[in-house]
Amino acid sequence: MTASSLLAEIGDVGRDAKRGGYSRHAFDSPEQDLRVWFVERALGLGLDVDTDYNGNIWAWWGSPGPDAVVTGSHLDSVPGGGAFDGPLGVVSALAAVEALREKGFQPEKPFAVVVFAEEEGGRFGVPCLGARLLTGTIDAGKARGLRDADGVTFAEAAAKSGFDPERIGPDPGRLGLIGRFLELHVEQGRGLIDLGSPVAVGSTVIAHGRWRFSFTGQGNHAGATLIADRADPMLPAAATVTAVRRLARAVPDARATVGRLVPTPGGTNVIASTVDLWLDARVPGDATPSLVSDIARAAEEAAEEEGCRVEVTRESYSDDVVFDDRLRRDLGGWLGGAPELPTGAGHDAAILAGFVPAGMLYVRNPTGISHSPEEFAEAADVEAGAAALATVLERLAR
Ligand code: GLV
Ligand code: MN
Ligand code: MN
Ligand code: MN
Repeated sequence: MTASSLLAEIGDVGRDAKRGGYSRHAFDSPEQDLRVWFVERALGLGLDVDTDYNGNIWAWWGSPGPDAVVTGSHLDSVPGGGAFDGPLGVVSALAAVEALREKGFQPEKPFAVVVFAEEEGGRFGVPCLGARLLTGTIDAGKARGLRDADGVTFAEAAAKSGFDPERIGPDPGRLGLIGRFLELHVEQGRGLIDLGSPVAVGSTVIAHGRWRFSFTGQGNHAGATLIADRADPMLPAAATVTAVRRLARAVPDARATVGRLVPTPGGTNVIASTVDLWLDARVPGDATPSLVSDIARAAEEAAEEEGCRVEVTRESYSDDVVFDDRLRRDLGGWLGGAPELPTGAGHDAAILAGFVPAGMLYVRNPTGISHSPEEFAEAADVEAGAAALATVLERLAR
């Protein structure tokens, strides 16, 4: 099986007819189907499969043990996402195992393929939730209580998916097995187009976080309420969206996005009573919190002007990450001088990098677009990526 043929096998799972692309959220029916599919494929390769306390699936080639070489990614997507973000790293890992086995390679080190849960935070709001829980970088109680849009908690979803909600939390025993972690991922910008290379080695991930802005006003009738009498939370929300762009533009290399805004109750002839919006902010170094403070101040001023209130809550934050020096050097060397690439996208490997030597490989995306149905990778580049992964795994596991 090739990485492309494995991707084709799951090409119909979780298609989103309304948004285009795929919507596969942690433990929902399409993602659950993908998890079952992964387990079947891993068992078919003779791997031993188990699920950890936090819903991450592990497929072991040989016995679990310390100093393990671990590779993998995630199977969930953003709403209306592409086919590659997440699954490419999983199918490439499976294809690499098969290719290594076919050439007669037997790892000397423990070796595992892992599928992380809720990488996108598309259902429960916190990205890389499975990796954060594994490493203890999110409080277990907070994680258990995270709710999806229908009010279902992460603990309830865990129970439904078949793992024990009581055990959710740090897993030092499991984490302690990882000697090196490697994630292959589709490139999410135009870095590899510009470099003219099918594959790159990850260098850095910029600091990033999510904040929820909840505006409260007075819900009311759209026709019977004079403009002068309104406290419409949509106004400070709109002012905040434009402030995000204005303030981010003034900070070198900042990225700041409002991709989700929810008015309640959400009727055309109803002045909203509340509006929630989510800010995704990313600035290299330690400048993200001060940018967010400036945005919060602008939101408060706009709320006051309209007679509304705003509450700002940080939902997640991760510092800048530099991937392991030695591993980067080794990966580049083993791949014949593959270029290095920084990214503004977050990854499970970046969470793990705080605890174990971690690295990444990126595969060229000719559209330069991601978190969109237009995300793409040519079949030749997909296979080049899987071959590169096999090459470096072979080196790491002997
Ligand atoms: C995850 O893909 C992110 O960087 O938002
Ligand atoms: Mn993503
Ligand atoms: Mn991803
Ligand atoms: Mn990601």
